[in-house]
Amino acid sequence: MDKNDMIVTTNLSKSYDDKTHVLKDLNIVIRKGEWVNIMGPSGSGKTTLLNILSCLDRPTNGSIIINGTEVTKLSQNEMAKFRRENIGLVFQQYHLIPYLTALENVMLAQHFHSMVDEEEAKKALELVGLGHRLEHIPAHLSGGEQQRVSIARALINQPSLILADEPTGNLDRTNGKIILDLFKKLHKNGHTIVIVTHDPEIGMMGDRLIKLMDGRTVDERESA
Ligand SMILES: Nc1ncnc2c1ncn2[C@@H]1O[C@H](COP(=O)(O)OP(=O)(O)O)[C@@H](O)[C@H]1O
Ligand SMILES: [Mg+2]
Repeated sequence: MDKNDMIVTTNLSKSYDDKTHVLKDLNIVIRKGEWVNIMGPSGSGKTTLLNILSCLDRPTNGSIIINGTEVTKLSQNEMAKFRRENIGLVFQQYHLIPYLTALENVMLAQHFHSMVDEEEAKKALELVGLGHRLEHIPAHLSGGEQQRVSIARALINQPSLILADEPTGNLDRTNGKIILDLFKKLHKNGHTIVIVTHDPEIGMMGDRLIKLMDGRTVDERESA
């Protein structure tokens, strides 16, 4: 463990029952400020891994240190607090509240995190290029715009670590590119980024690619 490490997993394993060993002894190190993509066939354990790194789920064995904290030793409440303070999550499904506007969706996240601050929420939406869509409800936004609201929401606690599971999975190429440009901007601003993806175009970006196959890392290399 080094002070430049953001994530260190040691012999990380996850089984759902005696027969379903989804992750097998993963030893992964992700450095602060790095952009790492995780690719692998469907069912290889990518979402399981991301959920564990997100502190949404626990491994069956092994340890995870994030930003110097051994999260696997935290209680359920401490883990939730750690997640709120350190991690921003982006999902394939945007998980926006349908009857709240873009601005209210972001402010709801602020409410759960700490204090509601409308100006700050507006700024987050401006950062993702949605300053002109504050009062729109999700049904009146395109898929790409909804995903940008969800990224604004993920940024509200200024997380050092951003984790995304197939963030462009539901988007066409043009909107996918807008989302990727946002990730590039966040990476440039110093956020550590981990993206699980099927998209070969994302796979070529970032600093490093980790390939997962049947719950093990089979290939790791620097991106071109
Ligand atoms: N809650 C669960 N209970 C039992 N098995 C699960 C559960 N979640 C995922 N799995 C199994 O774990 C394997 C990996 O799933 P997942 O992590 O979603 O893969 P990926 O995201 O790479 O497609 C699959 O075989 C899946 O059926
Ligand atoms: Mg998945």
